[in-house]
Amino acid sequence: MKKLGVLTSGGDAPGMNTAIRAIVKAADYYGVDVMGIRCGFQGLIDRKIHPLTSQEVEDIADKGGTILKTSRSTEFLEETGKKKALEVLRDFDINSLVVIGGDGSLKGAEKLHDRGINVIGIPGTIDNDLVFTDYSIGFDTTLNTVLECIGKIKDTDSSHDKTTIVEVMGRYCGDLALYSALAGGGEIISTPEKPLDFHTICSQLRSRINRGKNDNLVIVTERMYDLQELQQHIEGKLDINVRTTVLGFVQRGGNPSAFDRVLASKMGVYAVDMLMGGYSGVAVGVKENKIIHQKLGNLNDMKADKQEKYSLLEKLLN
Ligand code: F6P
Repeated sequence: MKKLGVLTSGGDAPGMNTAIRAIVKAADYYGVDVMGIRCGFQGLIDRKIHPLTSQEVEDIADKGGTILKTSRSTEFLEETGKKKALEVLRDFDINSLVVIGGDGSLKGAEKLHDRGINVIGIPGTIDNDLVFTDYSIGFDTTLNTVLECIGKIKDTDSSHDKTTIVEVMGRYCGDLALYSALAGGGEIISTPEKPLDFHTICSQLRSRINRGKNDNLVIVTERMYDLQELQQHIEGKLDINVRTTVLGFVQRGGNPSAFDRVLASKMGVYAVDMLMGGYSGVAVGVKENKIIHQKLGNLNDMKADKQEKYSLLEKLLN
């Protein structure tokens, strides 16, 4: 390996810094120089590249966000953008790259692998929408943040006998909503994988109210509903007051949880080991508690079976 480049791309996720630290430390162990690429693929095109030393990453394992900064580059999606990126990598003598990010970022990583760069992807996204891996870096921290916020909403809901619709992130993946409910955070959940129509949400609420449960949480994944419309519909049908809370970007920040830090450290070291072993064009993941790798491409097949977790819900939320 000549020089190793590392970049973070797409939405930031807690634990990205821990992964950067692990990559730099592991590369240092092998005597390989690391170049930090700032602002994702756009920063690569714009030559925002500087050496990243072991000392610089010493104290970042517990910090949220990403010290390398990140972006969603539209220029890189174009052929001309990719050509520029390849020229820059050549100019800086970087022949190996670790890309930390979500689905779009790992697709970008694949494009560089196809063009001759040695690339390893690491899943870093709060959405947990990359089904080749049980967990992506950042998901656990965000889930804990969501649960903390929901707990606070529950306090005030129970004091006033109110119902609240809580919208969580996840893009097109319902894992944040699903796991929140599995962890006891909500009574009615609607996700892209198991969407509920207005009628079903109302009838589930009605049966809970009929049983004397007057404070209820409806957790929904973002992008599914016009929330105002849903709120007004419930209020009209059930004659109750409903509140709506969009958790928003509070979900993306914060210090990574212990789980995310350990996961990011394992994945970072594994990625460097893979490059040293001559691998390229794969993403690192975790399945049944074991670090694994999988060829880049088709990493977020949403049809993957989540039936088991949803059937657990049926027993928990009755
Ligand atoms: O992919 C992470 C995520 O936070 C999604 O949950 C959300 O839909 C999206 O990013 C928001 O993206 P942006 O930061 O570009 O508004």
